[in-house]
Amino acid sequence: MRKRMVAGNWKMNKTPREAVDLVNLLKDKIDKEDIDVVLCVPAINLIAVAESILHTNIKLGAENLHYENCGAYTGETSATMLKEIGVKYVIVGHSERRSYFKENDVIVNKKVLKAFEYGIIPIVCVGESLEEREDGITIEKIRIQVKKALKNLTDKQAESVVIAYEPIWAIGTGKHATNEQAQEICFEIRKCIGEMFGEKVSEKTRILYGGSVNGKNANELFAMPDIDGGLVGGASLKEDFANIVNADIV
Ligand code: 13P
Repeated sequence: MRKRMVAGNWKMNKTPREAVDLVNLLKDKIDKEDIDVVLCVPAINLIAVAESILHTNIKLGAENLHYENCGAYTGETSATMLKEIGVKYVIVGHSERRSYFKENDVIVNKKVLKAFEYGIIPIVCVGESLEEREDGITIEKIRIQVKKALKNLTDKQAESVVIAYEPIWAIGTGKHATNEQAQEICFEIRKCIGEMFGEKVSEKTRILYGGSVNGKNANELFAMPDIDGGLVGGASLKEDFANIVNADIV
């Protein structure tokens, strides 16, 4: 049985003070113990959030890391730094980083390997654009992203990596993929991991859906057989995140 996961991606939102206020609000509302709840927050907020989530079920996540240990990379954050302050998960290859910061599949793979080297679990984002969906190449695109991101992983790493399927057209648009659309691609992702590492591994890998998830649509999306939870943007910045975590699966 895969443990369900709900991860928030705050993106470039909340000052450290606002971050503490939001965590305090959420920790009172979250009442599910049996799922992994992760808050992926801006680097500047990590220390404040690490303190606020002490003695709760919430785990600390970062939004990005660099693939080198240290050196002349102005403005970047290394896995060593994240590890020291208790980061357990890190988002890698979000479509916003791929498009605005030119991260490609090779860079994504290097970051995935570096995160594992430091015991941090990567949440790898994959997803197609609207044009790619309309051109009928969604599955091809996703398979390439998965295969390249997971290159050279051990079976154990492939079991613990988290994949987030985030169709680009569903991010921040209020237009989520239908349950069937999301399930179809999450199934394909699991199949692809099975081809790479064997079915025993792929049955353990958690696959999330992301893109306009909210407290109203989460329960149906998360009930699909290959969807193990969600990666949540906008709704993770408010109380609704607790509704997503607490959602009873239908
Ligand atoms: P929204 O939930 O705001 O659509 O964002 C999804 C996302 O990009 C999470 O990483």
